[in-house]
Amino acid sequence: MQDMRSFVTSLEQRGELVRIRRPVDSRFELAAVMTRLEAAGKAFVFEQVRGARYPLVGGLFSRVERFGAALGRGPDGFTHKDMEAALEQAKAQPIAPVEVATGACHEVIHTGDSLDLRHLPVPWFFERDSGPFITAGVGFARHPHSGVINVGFYRTLILGRDSCAINASSLSDLRRIYGHAAAHGGEMPIALAIGVEPALLFAAASKLPPTISEIDIAGGLKGAPIEVTRALTSDLLVPANAEFVVEGTVDLSRRCTNVLGEYAGQYGPESAPVTRVTAITHRREPLFCSILAGRNPEHNTLGKIATYGIKRDLAARLLQIDPCVRRVNIFSDPRLGPMVHVAIAIAKQADGQPAELIRRVFSTPGNIFPVSRIARRVIIVDEDVDVDSIEDVEWAIWSRLATPEQMVLIPGVESWELDRVSRPGEGSLRVGIDATMRIRDRDALARPCTPGFESIRLEDYLDGPA
Ligand SMILES: Cc1cc2nc3c(=O)[nH]c(=O)nc-3n(C[C@H](O)[C@H](O)[C@H](O)COP(=O)(O)O)c2cc1C
Repeated sequence: MQDMRSFVTSLEQRGELVRIRRPVDSRFELAAVMTRLEAAGKAFVFEQVRGARYPLVGGLFSRVERFGAALGRGPDGFTHKDMEAALEQAKAQPIAPVEVATGACHEVIHTGDSLDLRHLPVPWFFERDSGPFITAGVGFARHPHSGVINVGFYRTLILGRDSCAINASSLSDLRRIYGHAAAHGGEMPIALAIGVEPALLFAAASKLPPTISEIDIAGGLKGAPIEVTRALTSDLLVPANAEFVVEGTVDLSRRCTNVLGEYAGQYGPESAPVTRVTAITHRREPLFCSILAGRNPEHNTLGKIATYGIKRDLAARLLQIDPCVRRVNIFSDPRLGPMVHVAIAIAKQADGQPAELIRRVFSTPGNIFPVSRIARRVIIVDEDVDVDSIEDVEWAIWSRLATPEQMVLIPGVESWELDRVSRPGEGSLRVGIDATMRIRDRDALARPCTPGFESIRLEDYLDGPA
């Protein structure tokens, strides 16, 4: 897919996109209608947002099947596993971008007095948000040491005509780039591209080591280089076919609070440095893109991409933590709150073993983050439980938990900022559950099983296909 607008056209041709012609208000009304449309699985274009000069498009990636369609691999049966595999392949075969002299993103240029962020159709999503937020903005900033351009999604609060606050969570590389700039001069250039081609969108959502540029991974995903062009007011490179590019200078000495309803269904109050906008450029007849904030399908479908690498890293470490460990799975699901839940199947030899293992798991470092920073719960199960199924893991808890000693509570653990029950200096609770059978109960609690079941093939018993 060459650019975002081609994907919009393809969705419209398949009848998956609806157009809203009636004027809507950017404060709450837009978000309320977006919520209904996303729940119905529809992508959408709002043609008239009151006070704004451009239409708003959204709901494009509320279903993972559309990732496949956008990458030319067909929507049918495309899953997060396929997306993870596609990203791994792109990492193995990255393709560097090509720089072009000029791009469609520069067809219309606003600088000085002619630039005004308030002309964009930026939704105000939730009652207690700090203001309207750009949510599909893909930020471009240069790593100070490697020179690599780092790309990620960073929600951006509109503060006024020419100022905004670009949020970098404590888990992001951008936070570290901000930190370096704060210590060296206090300012840095940044660019926010809105309405980028799908491959770049997926690469921006993924969590990569700081030495790898997401632009190269986007090229690998697309199977062709991403076209970039020089920003107008800095030496950054920006995607040539983006619908909009907002360029600016981050002033690390000025901060503001930016509260937004977050992906796991609670407000995320954070603080971000203020960015002075130096240029807004866009294509002719541009489409402003937005991702419905909060615990909603598109945010979480795209957000899941960021968890692939984190989960793999943690699972690989935990598999090595003790010879009794057989299988590990990390659940990251906004239905289970903002943190991850770790399920580990073990071959248990003694009743005290799981509780001891739980404590070791919570003190395990990771390559990207320590386990305790993002894991709320560790559940140890027997080998007969399917750790990939949350239902089976929950079944094990509520069938095999017998004594208080099987619960491990660890208070005061430092969390990341979206664990909102965690207060600065106090941390929050970690929960370990030994959901294994006590050895003396094994006979009583055995799961009913039918000998020979595994080898049965239904087609051997039917005249036609099953
Ligand atoms: C819709 C959406 C919004 C996001 N908003 C933010 C954000 O405001 N701040 C942030 O640091 N990460 C946010 N993320 C996650 C990052 O984009 C993602 O973790 C990325 O890998 C961070 O890149 P970095 O570590 O290279 O800076 C968001 C992800 C999605 C899909």
